[in-house]
This record gives sequence, structure tokens and C-alpha cells, in this order.
Amino acid sequence: SLAARLDRPIVLVGLMGVGKTTVGRRLAEALKRSFVDVDHEIERAADRTVSEIFATHGEAYFREGERRVVARLMGEKAGVIATGGGAFIDADTRALILDKGVAVWLDCDLETLVERTSRRNTRPLLRGGDPAKILAELKEQRSDSYAQAHIHIVTDDGPHHRTVSRIIEAID
Ligand code: S3P
Repeated sequence: SLAARLDRPIVLVGLMGVGKTTVGRRLAEALKRSFVDVDHEIERAADRTVSEIFATHGEAYFREGERRVVARLMGEKAGVIATGGGAFIDADTRALILDKGVAVWLDCDLETLVERTSRRNTRPLLRGGDPAKILAELKEQRSDSYAQAHIHIVTDDGPHHRTVSRIIEAID
């Protein structure tokens, strides 16, 4: 219900490049809520970039940090939270989000994801081969998990403010 949703953190999930961070920041502004980006919190805590953490400690270690940060944020005052693309794929992290938050799956077509992720090459998972192929595989592997989110928003390649209003409509 609306009342139940309003005092829960709104958690954006979905693939790399879909716009979770940008949309999250603007959604938080529109709702006058705090905004937290999980990747950024992990980087702050580790004093390392996500790429460095993957390179030094591996993905499993990163997922542990991600789980810890999400667990902490789920216990805090309701804000808007942008997750990294793999957070909602981890069963424990997903359970936490579904239990304590309102999960919003931001979804868009592959071409847009490829275009957006190619602007900055900061994603360790896209470095091992052809980014378009890797993103296509991740979309295929992860969609069933993302589909467990409470709300599904299919975005287009247009301006993010449209996505923000559509999330607000969906939550109301
Ligand atoms: C990942 C997505 C990244 C970051 C890490 C792993 C993933 O976040 O957490 O590189 O597994 O999809 P963004 O979705 O913000 O790029």
C-alpha cells in the first residue's frame, strides 16, 4: 500500500547503464529524501574503487561488502538507494531489499545499455570481452531475478526526468 511504501527505502535495481544513479539522485530530490549509491558507499568504506576491489580481492569479496552496505541502509531512515547491477542478483541481498524496501527494476533495451556504458569504462565486468555481448548475457541471466522487484519500469533512451515521474506515479 502507499502508506507502507512511503516509509520504506526506495531501492533501484537493474543492469549497468540503465541510469540507477542519475535517476536515483533526481528521484531523491523530487521526494525530498536522502540519496545513497551503494557502489559509492563500498568505495568509501574500502578507500578503493570498485575496479580495484574486483582486481585485488575478487567479486565474491565485493558482493560481501555490497550485502553489508545494503543491510545497513535497509535499517536506516527511508531514502532512495541506487544499487550496483549485481546486488539484487545475490539471494541474500535481494531478500533484504524485498523485505525492507520498495524494489524498483529499471529496465531498458540492450542498445541503450551498451551506448551508456561505453561512455565511461569503469566496469570490471565489461572489460573481459565485447561489452555488448557481456551485457546481453547478463540481461539474459539476470532478468528473472530483477523481475522479483515490486515495481517494473521500462525506460527508453530519453531524458531521465521522465523515468523519475513514472516511478513516482508507480509508487503512489
Ligand atoms: C556490477 C555493476 C556495477 C558495480 C560492479 C558490478 C554488476 O554497478 O557494482 O561493477 O555486477 O552488474 P552499476 O550497475 O552501477 O554499473
